[in-house]
Amino acid sequence: MPVENESTEATSTGSRPRRVPLSPTLAINEAIARKRREGVRVLPLGFGEAGLPIHPALARELAAGSDRGAYGPVAGSAALRAAAAGYWSRRGLPTEPAMVVGGPGSKALLFGLVMSLGGEIVIPAPSWVSYAAQAALAAEGALQVATPPGEGGLPSPALLADAVVRARSQGRSVAGVVVTLPDNPTGTLASEQSVRRLCEVARELDLVIISDEIYRDLVHDPSRDVPSPARYAPERTVVTTALSKHLAAGGWRIGVARLPEGPIGEALRSDLLGVGSEIWSSAPAPMQHAAAFAFSEPPELVERVNRSRRLHAIVAAAVAERFEAAGARVPSPEGAFYVYPDLEPLRDRLRTDHGVRTGTQLAELLLERYGVGVLPGAAFGDADEALRMRVSSSLLYGETEEQRLAALATPDPLTLPWIADSLDRLSEVLTALTAPTPLAAPATC
Ligand SMILES: Cc1ncc(COP(=O)(O)O)c(C=O)c1O
Repeated sequence: MPVENESTEATSTGSRPRRVPLSPTLAINEAIARKRREGVRVLPLGFGEAGLPIHPALARELAAGSDRGAYGPVAGSAALRAAAAGYWSRRGLPTEPAMVVGGPGSKALLFGLVMSLGGEIVIPAPSWVSYAAQAALAAEGALQVATPPGEGGLPSPALLADAVVRARSQGRSVAGVVVTLPDNPTGTLASEQSVRRLCEVARELDLVIISDEIYRDLVHDPSRDVPSPARYAPERTVVTTALSKHLAAGGWRIGVARLPEGPIGEALRSDLLGVGSEIWSSAPAPMQHAAAFAFSEPPELVERVNRSRRLHAIVAAAVAERFEAAGARVPSPEGAFYVYPDLEPLRDRLRTDHGVRTGTQLAELLLERYGVGVLPGAAFGDADEALRMRVSSSLLYGETEEQRLAALATPDPLTLPWIADSLDRLSEVLTALTAPTPLAAPATC
């Protein structure tokens, strides 16, 4: 089922707020922790964390790099840049190490890129929470453009062209566009045809494309091609990735950017290094050492990524099925560990039984009454009237390392009692939302 964005207009988010709120993904994590402390049984479906242990070989490599105490080059170590160049070259994007820049997480690199571009930045609606926030902090705000149905992460090329032409005719400057392949929050992957069209529009309008491919290795069907804009508009596409998702190392804070060859890339690289030199100096040296190992893709890590992808695919599909069974419309999850259900078919019941009229009210009800933590679509720039939410399925793999390793190892994770219990609790809550009599408050644990 495609995601339907009612809005066909681009929305401008405006520039820098005086106060900076906590990022919604981190805030939901804290709200869930609070519920747990209150003794409530929670279903943690809010935070976009891979929910899996670090592979021991990667941990060993980090330990081996722990004696590296000196500052390094702002762009990152030669070993990291060479390994990341190899990683991208193996994915059909030939890369020179000189065009790789490392940083403390791709979030920091994205911030540096947005700041270097300046002006307004076009972002998809809905899209990852931090793009709009970063554009407001570091540039002149975000221009949110709806995604084509079923193609999360990619601003509709036709709407993008209209929005940029209109903004420029008003004297505003628009310098870049962000795409997410595959996408957070919808869990879908844009088609090659739409990516090609977006690249044509970006070229016509002289926009830099930032392609956030942090979930690239978690496309559920490993034979599926990821249509990176770096293939179709190589002169103007920056690609970012990190170890946070496919290797579950979000807390390590290490990421890399691939800048394009040529004048656009040279200028951006130099500005990005300038920003990096003033904010983070260089990515932490031990992390760079471990990341160089990871991006060289030794067989044990490739195997771990394959297992993780499979687990994410199975559990995300099961979560999507539970929502569908309750009457929601759900785009089929195609990548990462996100499901983006739309409870529009249940609107009347949600209003009459629970007084819920918006996605935010729905998310609040789920958390406060049932202990289910999700993020409303509005956190991602979706319309708040829409009853859409992002459900992250990856924190259902277990509470302990032992359980998570068992989830990775088994061919059928849905038969593990802790995963089956969580899915059943989800169905119970969804039934309660749609059934005439409300379910009792969650049991305390
Ligand atoms: C789409 C997207 N891009 C970037 C990031 C940030 O990743 P990192 O840990 O590399 O800063 C995230 C993390 O949630 C994400 O979902």
